[in-house]
Amino acid sequence: MKKISIIGAGMTGSTAAHWLAERELADVVLVDVVEGMPQGKGLDLLEAMPIIGKDAQIVGTNDYADTKGSDIVIITAGVARKPGMSRDDLLTINAGIVGTAATETLKYSPDAFYIVLTNPLDTMAYLTLKKTGLPRERVIGQAGILDSARMRAFVALETGVSVENIQCYVLGGHGDEMVPLTRHSNIAGIPLRDYIPADKLEAIVNRTRKGGGEIVNLLKTGSAYYAPSAAVTQMAEAILKDKKLIVPCAAYMQGEYGLNDMYFGVPVVLGAGGMEKIVEYKFDADEKAMFEKSAASVKETHEALKKLVNI
Ligand code: APR
Repeated sequence: MKKISIIGAGMTGSTAAHWLAERELADVVLVDVVEGMPQGKGLDLLEAMPIIGKDAQIVGTNDYADTKGSDIVIITAGVARKPGMSRDDLLTINAGIVGTAATETLKYSPDAFYIVLTNPLDTMAYLTLKKTGLPRERVIGQAGILDSARMRAFVALETGVSVENIQCYVLGGHGDEMVPLTRHSNIAGIPLRDYIPADKLEAIVNRTRKGGGEIVNLLKTGSAYYAPSAAVTQMAEAILKDKKLIVPCAAYMQGEYGLNDMYFGVPVVLGAGGMEKIVEYKFDADEKAMFEKSAASVKETHEALKKLVNI
């Protein structure tokens, strides 16, 4: 069995463990700083396995040594922004947490692939790349699958069509300026623009952009975790099974789309080599403008990170 370590056994981390174990994709190690909590969640999930007839091992721990020999490391550890905390404060705190998670796990799993979920996502993936010194193929950020899935869900709600027929592609930074590509998105091959009235489509795009905030406003005490953890599970599966799956992920840019030295949401090929390739779409003028606006905003967060943290 393959081995996946999840750093941060909070809502996203433990739900990812649930999806992974349920699909028997790997044995799972849940790591957290809180004593007892990862052990308790790990044991509870392990005890569910006989009921659903799956043989995955799940263990919770506070000790990075237990992550030894992981094929994939998923980083969800971090704190959420609290009232009174500036974006820079959040950036500094989460950079400390993610930096430690990255370097500690690398000691025990020098061959692992890294999937980063902690926000601000694009910069935390960048930090992981720099802290580990790994090639870009092995450090990927999760965001685009989630944003695209939200758009797919809203299209399904609007049209009543199966989610399986609905393909949506949302690129760019994981924030309000994300880039939903309505021209490339379709229902059973029919462009969304031909299927859904323009005003309805615009409403779907707006709801997608604010999708994270919508959940936060409803939950009040946290952010989304079912869909983000399902997204990371799809990424892990694509790598473990060498699926060559094309999905939007945050990838380290080396000239693609005219961007350099930053993480950004673009379509990538996921397979046994990790982030094997960045796929380049042809944009029209409107799409290019949206893409560049989002890139400028993500670049700013990268610069803020570089000022706050020594990388
Ligand atoms: N090492 C390990 N775990 C840590 C550390 C650390 N240094 N610091 C905090 N954690 C743990 C917390 O104890 C908590 O259990 O990270 C976990 C985070 O879990 P939640 O607070 O439940 O947050 P969650 O909803 O899972 O989101 C985690 O993923 O999607 C992103 O924006 C989200 O950045 C957030 C992250």
